[in-house]
Amino acid sequence: MSETPSGSTLPRVLSGIQPTGDSFHLGNYLGAVRQWVAMQETHDAFYCVVDLHAITVEHDPRALRRRSRVAAAQCLAMGLDQDVSTLFVQSHVPEHAELAWVLGCLTGFGEAGRMTQFKDKSTKYGSSATTVGLFTYPVLMAADILLYTPGHGGALEVPVGEDQRQHLELTRTLAQRFNHRFGETFAVPEAFIPKDAAKITDLQEPTAKMSKSSSSPQGIVEVLEEPGPLRKKFMRAVTDTGSDVRYDETEKPGISNLVRIYASLEGISYDEVERKYAGSGYGTFKKDLAALVADTFTPIRERTHRLLADEEQLDRLLAVGAERAGAVAARTMEVVRDRVGFVARGR
Ligand code: TRP
Repeated sequence: MSETPSGSTLPRVLSGIQPTGDSFHLGNYLGAVRQWVAMQETHDAFYCVVDLHAITVEHDPRALRRRSRVAAAQCLAMGLDQDVSTLFVQSHVPEHAELAWVLGCLTGFGEAGRMTQFKDKSTKYGSSATTVGLFTYPVLMAADILLYTPGHGGALEVPVGEDQRQHLELTRTLAQRFNHRFGETFAVPEAFIPKDAAKITDLQEPTAKMSKSSSSPQGIVEVLEEPGPLRKKFMRAVTDTGSDVRYDETEKPGISNLVRIYASLEGISYDEVERKYAGSGYGTFKKDLAALVADTFTPIRERTHRLLADEEQLDRLLAVGAERAGAVAARTMEVVRDRVGFVARGR
């Protein structure tokens, strides 16, 4: 249990999202931010735009700055409320990098080398483009999480996608290792992989996850996209042989993905989608789905643009988040520095 921004006691949650694109995509919305919005009501919630993680691969500084603001604005436009939860930019709280150093000194080289995401990415980029930052990415993520570990007895839930489970496991290991060596300090965090967080796949390659880094432009549905192009993408989405709208992941991965999107946006079951579209064919279903997505994203897009139009106001809102997150992080780091054996700075 911990103090919320409003002073009540609720279990704590922390999550992060990378500002890697000029827009979030449908998978980010259904798989992450929509859950964040729901959890802010029941938790003392901290959500972080992880710009330090975004520089583990080559990047353009101006694009990063723009994308960090766009990411934050979209979170707010999707319903995060700075009065209810705490949204902040990772680099505004330098304790993240500081704790990452300490945890890095507790992480085995081989242990970090076993992270499958690192192995995949480093294979893809090649050794000359694989940075040490990419290697220690999971350690920074562990720091993001453990900084917000509440005091004794409190739980910390971390909503993440299935692909982050191994990083969460490492975080738990590092928390336990630290506690064992230096005394009880961190609550061991729990991965929270929401059951209803639909796994959204690429519209052109329905067996691959929809992803900023690997989907083709036609396969990815962006939140800030205009309704026209958005509709085209759905009409051109890869479907399967046959014509009935039926959920069958192995036989019909394309249609199943679309059913998942529909069901998830409408809050109904796959069965209900199938019943609704029995006998109507793919065309009608795709058209309705495109309209449903456009209706969901239009107000979000408009709110995002309004928030971005007043950069000063947006930055002020983020400063409020940085202030609150920074207060928690500073308290944790004070304990960590002491436990590790650093000399307290004299006054
Ligand atoms: N690595 C996460 C992802 O790619 C993003 C992230 C960074 C994160 N720090 C975090 C998620 C802390 C949860 C908690 O999805």
